[in-house]
Amino acid sequence: MKVFSKIADLQNELFEARKNKKTVGLVPTMGALHAGHASLVKRSVSDNDVTVVSVFVNPTQFNDKTDLNTYPRTLDEDCKLLESVGADFVFAPSVEEVYPSPDTRSFEFPPVTTVMEGAHRPGHFNGVCQVVSRLFYIVRPDKAYFGEKDWQQIAVIKALVKYLGLKLYIVECPIVREEDGLAKSSRNTLLAS
Ligand code: PAF
Repeated sequence: MKVFSKIADLQNELFEARKNKKTVGLVPTMGALHAGHASLVKRSVSDNDVTVVSVFVNPTQFNDKTDLNTYPRTLDEDCKLLESVGADFVFAPSVEEVYPSPDTRSFEFPPVTTVMEGAHRPGHFNGVCQVVSRLFYIVRPDKAYFGEKDWQQIAVIKALVKYLGLKLYIVECPIVREEDGLAKSSRNTLLAS
């Protein structure tokens, strides 16, 4: 498994893979990985020749600074888990690498971006679309994998793919739960026991 922080280095590897007609799966994450993420990666590994996992806490999707600052960051542990489930490339860029200048694009796909989480977290889905579209342009995957825990996010990303006219299949993966039934989530470590 190789870990990259620079777009150009990742793209050089992907160029080689594509020259050899290999298919590419992308699993976008914000790190602090758990069994739910592992299931997405396993699915991508079984579907594709090459699996790229991005680990990037995207500032533009946080409308609450405290949430951004306290979001767990565990890249070393994440890499161990990713290696154990067969990921090929980890892309863990800096904020400046992903956004060399502020992203001023605005994505609105009503009603899906304006109801439920869209209503409660203004700007959240716009930030998700900004980063996911950047990742799609950087990696150019054949398939991208998202968990059904974030069902509304999947609907937004499908609208984004249609809007951008990308040749890309969005694979929806089932929720993985804790023993007590709670959906696994990176933020669960922040819950009081
Ligand atoms: O679901 C997440 O972890 C994030 O919203 C995503 C899709 C990786 C974009 O930052």
